[in-house]
Amino acid sequence: MRVLFVCLGNICRSPTAEGVFRRELELAGLAHRVEVDSCGIGDWHVGKSPDPRSAAAARRRGIDLSELCARQLSAEDFQRFDYLLAMDHHNLASLRQQCPEGCQAYIGLFLDFAGHVDRSVPDPYYGGDRGFEEVLDLVEAASRGLVENIARRLEGQRH
Ligand code: 4NP
Repeated sequence: MRVLFVCLGNICRSPTAEGVFRRELELAGLAHRVEVDSCGIGDWHVGKSPDPRSAAAARRRGIDLSELCARQLSAEDFQRFDYLLAMDHHNLASLRQQCPEGCQAYIGLFLDFAGHVDRSVPDPYYGGDRGFEEVLDLVEAASRGLVENIARRLEGQRH
């Protein structure tokens, strides 16, 4: 199973989602069954590390984002990943626009997995520190929901 988190710049929200979701997978004993990555719709920050404010907020919760490196969404991602999960409605619209015909992947909003139907992870880039904490709160809730969803799918594959 392969999961791709998508935001605008791939330096704040989607790397945070990648780090948090990896930890939730480890806690559930599923890290070896699921491949995780993140990317941005835009190319402005390609090659950069996560925003220091995102990295610091994640570190306070015991999550290390220092190895991550921003990249842009590519056409192959629609073939490679089973889930392409957008942080907000703009990212989702971009994914739907770029999605090739016949693509089998699940494309949706990440926060749907937290039970927040139609809700976005607010972009913290131009705001204060509180925004980065809010990203973590939302992403943690959605990561738990996504782990449950994937655990059920993997269980179904065994029977
Ligand atoms: P992200 O945040 O999409 O969560 O990585 C942003 C990072 C950079 C910009 C916008 C959002 N920017 O405009 O450069």
